[in-house]
Amino acid sequence: MPHIHIETFKPIPFPAQHEGVTFHYMASNVKHNNEHLIATTLEDKEFFLLVKDVPENVLLKSEKITRPAPTYIVKRALNAYASLSQAKVLSSNVNDTSKNIHLEKDASLWNIHDFAEKFPDAKDVRIEVGFGSGRHLLHQAKENPDILFIGIEIHKPSVEQALKQINIFGLDNVILLDYDARLFLELVPSNIVSRIYVHFPVPWDKKPHRRVISTAFINESTRVLAPLGQLELRTDSENYFAYSWETFISLTKARLQVNKNQEIAISSKYEDRWKKMEKNIYDITLINEEESQPLSIEGSFAFSKGLDEERLLALTGSTHKNKSGFVHFERSYKTTDGAILLRLSLGSFERPEHLYVRVDTDITDYLYTKPVPSKVNFMMHKFLDGLLHG
Ligand SMILES: C[S@@+](CC[C@H](N)C(=O)[O-])C[C@H]1O[C@@H](n2cnc3c(N)ncnc32)[C@H](O)[C@@H]1O
Repeated sequence: MPHIHIETFKPIPFPAQHEGVTFHYMASNVKHNNEHLIATTLEDKEFFLLVKDVPENVLLKSEKITRPAPTYIVKRALNAYASLSQAKVLSSNVNDTSKNIHLEKDASLWNIHDFAEKFPDAKDVRIEVGFGSGRHLLHQAKENPDILFIGIEIHKPSVEQALKQINIFGLDNVILLDYDARLFLELVPSNIVSRIYVHFPVPWDKKPHRRVISTAFINESTRVLAPLGQLELRTDSENYFAYSWETFISLTKARLQVNKNQEIAISSKYEDRWKKMEKNIYDITLINEEESQPLSIEGSFAFSKGLDEERLLALTGSTHKNKSGFVHFERSYKTTDGAILLRLSLGSFERPEHLYVRVDTDITDYLYTKPVPSKVNFMMHKFLDGLLHG
């Protein structure tokens, strides 16, 4: 990830503009005075830069939750801040800040809120979860120009790699999303998807709550699949296969198929690796037989008003649960323009979201993205508003 090591951190007078980048304000961690966030805008992207003391020097990098794609945006912002604050640069991996010609067109890269506002219209939709190198996704898209493919991946460099390929091959039937596929599924209208591919998901043997396959994921998949639509799991991990099989057969009703070492049209990078090692490959296919109820989610992410600093700062480090999920207050910051900024996780126990909330006297809002509009998130938002404003 792009970063710069500087000798000492020098705050600048905010707001400021330099090399096309706007720095709005700084937010300083209330408990650790060596960590600051800088609210930044470049082109239409809003995000934080993170400044942190590390042994012997200071690290300037992008902040994880708000980090924008493509990477050149972050690189330009980092260089602009270093130059504006006249920082002495000790080392940097931010050299090439040019926009990659194949990333200039990013119409195929949607964000989660684009889907929430208007789900793309298509007769046939297929979804690939965790497309990695994109080999399977792009092969399918080239072979089936009349089908819309939605590729979801949380690893940003893989998303950029796939975006380049889409632009090089001029594909207009692929949409990419850099987001947790488990949450994305909750926004997909019912009965419209013909295939969901989950090929070689990370087994997460030590952190099973991070696995893609779960009862909630299978239930959501069944809801979004059209009758006779299929959810395809392909894995080399015997453990993951056994876990998934147990999860699939615990459903009250399902049509399932299991295959071992079955060849498919295109072998992914992972598959090639496992084949070379002569590992077995397992497939579980769920065939949906039912028509589901239409998706209906309504709610609001508006907050009440008021800034009670003592109340807000007392929340730092605390966790609050109810029947649907939880809110955990991770860190608190005071901003140079008089607001309180909170970093928190919110949502269901298995799929929380990491968010920032800025509380000002006359307005409280999420920065820079709101939670995904799911039923649980609307409920947990209300709960959060109560914690912040009473
Ligand atoms: C082992 S790789 C397999 C990649 C590809 N399917 C293949 O067969 O080569 C698993 C991929 O899933 C992605 N991933 C893991 N959890 C995810 C999630 N919840 N939503 C979307 N992508 C996820 C990871 O970033 C990783 O690229």
